[in-house]
Amino acid sequence: MSLSPNLHLVDNEKMPTEQRVKNLLSRMTIAEKIGQMSQVQSYAGWLTDELAADIKAGKIGSIINEVDLDTVNAMQYVATKESRLGIPLLIGRDVIHGFKTIFPIPLGQAASWQPDLIRQAAHVSALEAATTGVNWTFAPMIDISRDPRWGRIAESFGEDPYLTSVLGVAMSEGYQTEDLANTGAIAACAKHFVGYGAAESGRDYNTTNIPENELRNVYLKPFKALADHGIATFMTAFNDLNGVPASGNDWLTQTVLREEWQYSGMVVSDWDSIKELSVHGFTANDKEAALAGFNAGINMEMASSTYQDHLLTLLSEGKISLAQIDDMVSGILKLKFDLGLFEQPFTNPEQLPELVNPQHLALAKETAIKSCVLLKNQGQTGSKLSQPLLPLSLDKLNSLAVIGPFADDGYEQLGTWIFDGEEQHSQTCLSAIKQLIADTDTDLTLHVAKGVENSRTTSCDGFEQAVNCAAQSDAVVMVLGEESILSGEAHSRSTIDLPGAQEQLIEAISATGKPIVLVIMAGRQLTLGNIIDKVDAILYAWHPGSMGGPAIVDLLFGTAAPSGKLPVTFPRVLGQIPIYYNQKNTGRPVTDASCIHMNDIEARAPQTSLGMTASHLDTHYTPLFPFGFGLSYSTVEYSNLTILTPSVSLGGTVKACVEITNTGSREMEEVVQLYTRDLVASVTRPVKELKAFKTVKLAAKERQTVVFEINTDELAFYNRQMQLVTEAGDFQLWIAGDSASTNYVEFTLTEN
Ligand code: BGC
Repeated sequence: MSLSPNLHLVDNEKMPTEQRVKNLLSRMTIAEKIGQMSQVQSYAGWLTDELAADIKAGKIGSIINEVDLDTVNAMQYVATKESRLGIPLLIGRDVIHGFKTIFPIPLGQAASWQPDLIRQAAHVSALEAATTGVNWTFAPMIDISRDPRWGRIAESFGEDPYLTSVLGVAMSEGYQTEDLANTGAIAACAKHFVGYGAAESGRDYNTTNIPENELRNVYLKPFKALADHGIATFMTAFNDLNGVPASGNDWLTQTVLREEWQYSGMVVSDWDSIKELSVHGFTANDKEAALAGFNAGINMEMASSTYQDHLLTLLSEGKISLAQIDDMVSGILKLKFDLGLFEQPFTNPEQLPELVNPQHLALAKETAIKSCVLLKNQGQTGSKLSQPLLPLSLDKLNSLAVIGPFADDGYEQLGTWIFDGEEQHSQTCLSAIKQLIADTDTDLTLHVAKGVENSRTTSCDGFEQAVNCAAQSDAVVMVLGEESILSGEAHSRSTIDLPGAQEQLIEAISATGKPIVLVIMAGRQLTLGNIIDKVDAILYAWHPGSMGGPAIVDLLFGTAAPSGKLPVTFPRVLGQIPIYYNQKNTGRPVTDASCIHMNDIEARAPQTSLGMTASHLDTHYTPLFPFGFGLSYSTVEYSNLTILTPSVSLGGTVKACVEITNTGSREMEEVVQLYTRDLVASVTRPVKELKAFKTVKLAAKERQTVVFEINTDELAFYNRQMQLVTEAGDFQLWIAGDSASTNYVEFTLTEN
């Protein structure tokens, strides 16, 4: 036991937490209470005198960004042994997709559609972070992201509320485990509450305007799922939402989060976002900002110090009450008790697994394998290939060109938000190919060239060498994409094609006539229309993390087979954005027949000669690749889609099944997806909504019947009165390998 002598008198591990919180609160001064509500930054790697004095005086509730173990333990020592009441500190850090062992970016993890894997990856991340004393992370990021210009899409689980909810819960479970007091468990945080992903024009921090119905049916949905699951904390967003910045939005955090959802966890503001309420023009100064943040129910202020500086005055002026402060501080203390910090504030890394150990790396590799999406795998029209190019066969290749800036760049494959990740732990594609050659004792000659220095390089100086490499080889693997710095916070783009001279590089290599596999590492979906016909296969690897190289090489050479499916829609051209599968029908939905290209319109055509439907004149209305799409090395056929419950009463279970057959000659994994459409409702509903999914393993030629059961509550939505309702009526249902399927069955939902 390491309790402060003062606390010992009234506190006891065996008491109910509520009682412990009350006891402690009753002994705190107002200044100490306000201190608990402040999170300050420190990444010095040592404990400065000033900070030690503040901790000792009880002015600090949490530290963000200190990951030096000795420093963190020293801070906890001052907090628990030298401060009046011995209250331990929350130590926060962004552990977004790994600590030292880096997993694929969350968008890549989402492409696995494997909650179990995501749970395990988060758990490993927590174990590694906990070795430095971190006990709180700011993940999962569950912002619905429909705009790939927005750099933070990389951190998200993509465009779908259901997928994001399921994966968000899994990630939170991985961090928190079943008991926050477990060694190596850390508190998770649902962020950014809310609407941040809808930033106008995809520019980070930009204004968001989301009608309440859309907000509830789409953007709030994953947050509700995480609140119900019991995530320890929420973070309020930077953006203003419908005119009210999220970090001063009492309707969001009090009315919706606390009152409607009965969320009892702790809420933290995003970095400086309370102070920035005045920059938004929502408050006039720090004092008003503190009041707005406080009234919104934000327990703890991150980075800025408006609470520390003004809450006391606001209290003395009667603008806030002591009861409110007590309520806010209780949430913070409760978390500290739940984490077991009063019993064990110090970290002994020996109780935790070693960093970057072989098991962690194996999991990172497995996650990267499952995250890659095979977008294309065929011979070019009229070209040399009659067979799918992938998997490559070592037996059939004498030489291979490996081209591109990311083929051997351990840093760039890690992706955004890797504060603690280190290039030295990365294994690249080139090193993995060399390893494969050594392991198999093969005579494969490699010809290696970067082609371009990095993804933004506009010079073609390196082309000649790259073309020579290709010309001398039987096949080419190009590893291109975006550098990590082109996605993530404050790294939005106005175009989302392969930057720099990479498209020209592909053209130059394509002119050699050699078969080309394009591996893309990127933080978002890119527009690939200009190059898709110039390559024979495309493996989309996102930023795959530490073990990206071996994972990709296993896929390229067929040791593993791709099973990833897109968590986002790939547009044909930028102007289609936002394009997402679960859109509304409109009054004039476009069809193939009504979609007219402007090149097909006669000169001086009259206004009404067009299809008069919701399309663009200069591109097809469909995406390049739909949400849910992904190929494998085998082929799968869906047949006999059957609704087992053509009529279901409210509260009942919808049952449907489909047969899936592996028609190819390799074992495969297929993510089977169930979508529904509510045909008529009191508010318009999306043309399709993901409601369930399952990963099914199929041996070569194997056929399986896949059965889904969903409760009719899953069909609920918010109506015009913003009530969650399930309405009787007719529905369509699809079970398919992606969201573009046209084969559906129908069922009717009846009143009881
Ligand atoms: C980001 C958050 C992050 C915080 C702390 C902010 O800039 O928006 O997502 O958790 O910094 O690093």
